[in-house]
Amino acid sequence: MSTTGRSFTVTRVADPSTEAHFEDVIKGLASTPKELSPKYFYDARGSALFERITALPEYYLTRAETEILEREADAILEHVRPDKLIELGSGSSRKTELLIRAMEHTGANRYVALDVSEDALCEAAERLTERHPELDVGVVVADFDGSLDVIERHGRRLVLLLGSTIGNFPPGPREEFLTRIGALLKDDDRFLLGVDLVKDRATLEAAYDDAAGVTAEFNKNVLRVLNRELDGNLPLDAFEHVAFYDAENAWIEMRLRATRTVDARLRGIDLALHFEAGEEMRTELSCKFTRESVERSLAVAGLALERWIEDAGGRFALVLARRAG
Ligand code: SAH
Ligand code: AVI
Repeated sequence: MSTTGRSFTVTRVADPSTEAHFEDVIKGLASTPKELSPKYFYDARGSALFERITALPEYYLTRAETEILEREADAILEHVRPDKLIELGSGSSRKTELLIRAMEHTGANRYVALDVSEDALCEAAERLTERHPELDVGVVVADFDGSLDVIERHGRRLVLLLGSTIGNFPPGPREEFLTRIGALLKDDDRFLLGVDLVKDRATLEAAYDDAAGVTAEFNKNVLRVLNRELDGNLPLDAFEHVAFYDAENAWIEMRLRATRTVDARLRGIDLALHFEAGEEMRTELSCKFTRESVERSLAVAGLALERWIEDAGGRFALVLARRAG
């Protein structure tokens, strides 16, 4: 569906308020160990909590990526000269404003933001259209897991996947997702990918287990989302936040651990749930990268690295890629 009336267009492909959106909840909760997709974090509250995370002293990722964009946005846009920016998992689009400003310097003015969180999309679009009256903004409420065909094809596009959102995909699904992105690209198009880099355990674990407890709230938000959307009664006070770095797999794993035996129901999908005391459910993977691991994944997906740009501290990288061959 497409509606206008505001100064931006909204296209709805996914509807996070329908049962279909929660299809893989049953599968994830029936598996051992239990797991949930990180996409369920992001209702309005979850998106707001993520924004608070980006400002935490321990969560260096957003600051490092912003530093790169402040330094390099003009050079990237001069080099690519896109007609439009297409962003996947755009969230608040705050860092994107640096690219939007740089794009406007080159005379282009179209920005399309795709995200599963309609609240985050509309809040961002309202801010952007107010601050950039010439900007032509389209928002697409869609799930990466569905088809990406909804993305407009005409013109030269710079496709963005920032914030190390690719880190949510473990090897295998990661290359599949990159392949689907690669399939969107024409020879002139480019892909700009933000990746968090492998580093010492203490820095990584602090970033996902902050002293103020905001990440713990973000993690537990998934329980609120399930209770509200699927008519559940999961007791929030029976779960605690767990985050640790698995160096072998180069990923941070977030879990929720039951602190006592839990018997609950998700009446909306007629699902009985049992947790043993101490049982852990995986809620997110945040993979960490090296230049080599990024190049390998891009190659599998038919993409080639064109530029690798790190922040001064070597914590985070922006990767400009194109179709290979
Ligand atoms: N790009 C922003 C936001 C990163 S948070 C930044 O760098 O700060 C990850 C974003 O991806 C959230 O806005 C979330 O709603 C979105 N997202 C997560 N899983 C998704 C999915 N399966 N499909 C579409 N969007 C998704
Ligand atoms: C968006 N995503 C890649 C964030 C990350 O760093 O993995 C989400 C997040 N989870 C906990 N803190 C932040």
